Amino acid sequence: MRQVDVRLHSDFAIGTTNPRLFGSFIEHLGRCLYGGIFEPGHPTADAKGFRHDVMSLVRELQPTIMRYPGGNFVSGYNWEDGVGPVEQRPRRLDLAWMSTETNRFGTNEFLDWCRMAGIEPMLAVNLGTRGADAARNLVEYCNHPSGTALSDMRRSHGWEAPHGVKFWCLGNELDGHWQIEAKTAEEYGRLAREAAKVMKWVDRSLELAVCGSSGRYMPTYGRWEETVLEHTFDHVEYISLHTYLNNYNADTAAFLASPDLMDSFIEEVIAIADAVAARRRSSRRIMLSFDEWNVWYRTRRNRAARVQPGWPIAPPILEEIYNVEDALAFGGMCISLLNHADRVRAACLAQLVNAIAPIMTETGGPAWRQTIFWPFMHFSRLGRGRVLRTEIDSPTYAARYNDPNGPEDTFFPLPSVPYLKLAAVHDPDGRRLTLFALNRSLTDELPLRLDAMGYDGLTLKQAMQLHDTDLKAINSKAHPDRVTPRALDSVRVSGQRVEATLSAASWNVIELGTS
Ligand code: AHR
Repeated sequence: MRQVDVRLHSDFAIGTTNPRLFGSFIEHLGRCLYGGIFEPGHPTADAKGFRHDVMSLVRELQPTIMRYPGGNFVSGYNWEDGVGPVEQRPRRLDLAWMSTETNRFGTNEFLDWCRMAGIEPMLAVNLGTRGADAARNLVEYCNHPSGTALSDMRRSHGWEAPHGVKFWCLGNELDGHWQIEAKTAEEYGRLAREAAKVMKWVDRSLELAVCGSSGRYMPTYGRWEETVLEHTFDHVEYISLHTYLNNYNADTAAFLASPDLMDSFIEEVIAIADAVAARRRSSRRIMLSFDEWNVWYRTRRNRAARVQPGWPIAPPILEEIYNVEDALAFGGMCISLLNHADRVRAACLAQLVNAIAPIMTETGGPAWRQTIFWPFMHFSRLGRGRVLRTEIDSPTYAARYNDPNGPEDTFFPLPSVPYLKLAAVHDPDGRRLTLFALNRSLTDELPLRLDAMGYDGLTLKQAMQLHDTDLKAINSKAHPDRVTPRALDSVRVSGQRVEATLSAASWNVIELGTS
């Protein structure tokens, strides 16, 4: 491949990342909680039942926010079932994942776990089967200091101090037919507005995310965002986006191109939100919460991998095993998020443990890192700071990506995909400029030449690469370190110039010192 040129300047930035961009998500789903983060009796579990082997991997990932309790689950959830003495909590049928919910883990356990992990909680309220009343009661239970029935109930449950949860989701994917009590945009918009209003009457400091479309392939996409924001514009801070990329067609070139559709999705939702603002002649800007994103397909349309018969407790469902090409597409998604840091102010990798997750566990056994663990860790630990504008001159290829998750197959043409997808983040405190670079060529090395104007005297701190000649290679309990990043030796730095040769089909992270 010919040389790929990149130019950037220290003065020209897209925006500064919000800490909430590096979030994740834990749902009452399969073994995400039970047998994942929470497993009383596990050799590494503490008195609360929190697995410390999982906790130490979570600390490596450094997620900043955690969304809970769903997901589809929240649309049938009675939050009252998950608080108070454990032995009195009811068992319920969970219609989202066709399993039995024991409610041994609930809101207070979640908030304790977040405190232990140093993570900001993001609570979702049920706007499927329930509404504004249950939502404002949950806010009062969590955040009101004392002196009311609900705040005193929390205190009697053992949590004297208010939890102070600031960031809330107004339901989940209510546009989807799979959702328990799905809604039209009109129905949901009105309900979300009323819920938002009374939740903020209980606690004025809340920040709220209203549901956007479940995906860009949804037939109501666009009109849904517009209608919902017409109802909620004055009451919410964020609108949500969800994307799961796939390689159903076994077309890896198209799969690696598909993160570019996330860029389009983000830019379209910004346009719609700003059009709603424009109609009001408002300078207010609704921010984007990309609160579900990942690769997910093998366990998505395969019913046996999605639900199991007999209403099991914590069944092993959605246990997607990620390979190298998944990690590359995933890295592309990280770059898309960084390059929209001005408007995507929150994001959640869906999910954290076992169910479509970077961390896998065996119940009673060890925990290990999936391939996607690595790009998320790089993104989360090195992606904080000013995201710089880049000018990229790369050869391109054409692809056609299929997203069959809507009512019918939807083909998205991608006529001009640059082989290089890149983001550059400057952390002035760490005196660090980090380049995240995905080479999407499946056959060719990519000779990269980058000029970082305004940064004289760059030094190389470290350079890592995730690459494997076997794109289907995975990590497993038996081989937990089969796929790990290795040093990228080809980087040369001189003055403001960086040169490197990126292997075919590789994820690369180059950390530079700035003076
Ligand atoms: O993350 C898995 C599921 O995907 C979530 O429960 C739902 O919101 C989405 O459809």
